[in-house]
Amino acid sequence: MIEVLRCGGDGGMTGRLIVAITGASGAVYGLRLLELARERFAEVYVCVSQQGRRVMAAETETDPASLAHCDGSCSVRLLDPNDMLTPPASGSFRHDGMVIVPCSMGTAGRIASGVSDDLITRAADVCLKERRPLVLVVRETPLNLIHLRNLTTLAEAGAIVLPACPAFYHRPETIADVVDTVVERAMQHLGAGLPSAREWQVDRT
Ligand SMILES: Cc1cc2nc3c(=O)[nH]c(=O)nc-3n(C[C@H](O)[C@H](O)[C@H](O)COP(=O)(O)O)c2cc1C
Repeated sequence: MIEVLRCGGDGGMTGRLIVAITGASGAVYGLRLLELARERFAEVYVCVSQQGRRVMAAETETDPASLAHCDGSCSVRLLDPNDMLTPPASGSFRHDGMVIVPCSMGTAGRIASGVSDDLITRAADVCLKERRPLVLVVRETPLNLIHLRNLTTLAEAGAIVLPACPAFYHRPETIADVVDTVVERAMQHLGAGLPSAREWQVDRT
């Protein structure tokens, strides 16, 4: 499956993924997803919101500038959230989907309202209108009625609302294991899940 994605074009897959990181807590989810995306996609377009940068600095040692990457099998291009003149802003740019991870309630609300005022919200809007996968790894607690209504609107419009709620039934031992329970689920919804990813009780005979 990984090779198919990298080659692109097979089964309609382009090997291209859009990743946005916004200012909800959980920058580590976005950073881990990017690591996996580098293994599973040929081209990754990353956009970190202004507030996403600040929360990432508070929660990790990672400088967003270090996310850009290029080797023989994958290029990761860092995009300016204020620059609309980039490929993901247009429906003509073909890709396999977009994930916002973590996704703040602010970003979710703007997408739900059709406010495409930066590259992240515009690219998400494009996904919905072009019927491409849009996965929102939302993180907030508790949720108020406005959050719940916005998330309902997004689900009705075709987005996958995938809360950053880790699972514990495989007994994760480290924070990285816990993070992977969320990130692997997001990858599954982008058509890039590992065939070997563990499923509940499948290992038991
Ligand atoms: C340390 C920190 C943690 C935050 N965590 C969350 C969160 O988990 N969920 C959320 O919706 N907003 C959270 N916020 C608030 C957002 O950062 C804020 O609403 C921001 O305007 C979102 O901007 P963006 O969606 O453009 O990235 C947090 C803010 C800070 C400073």
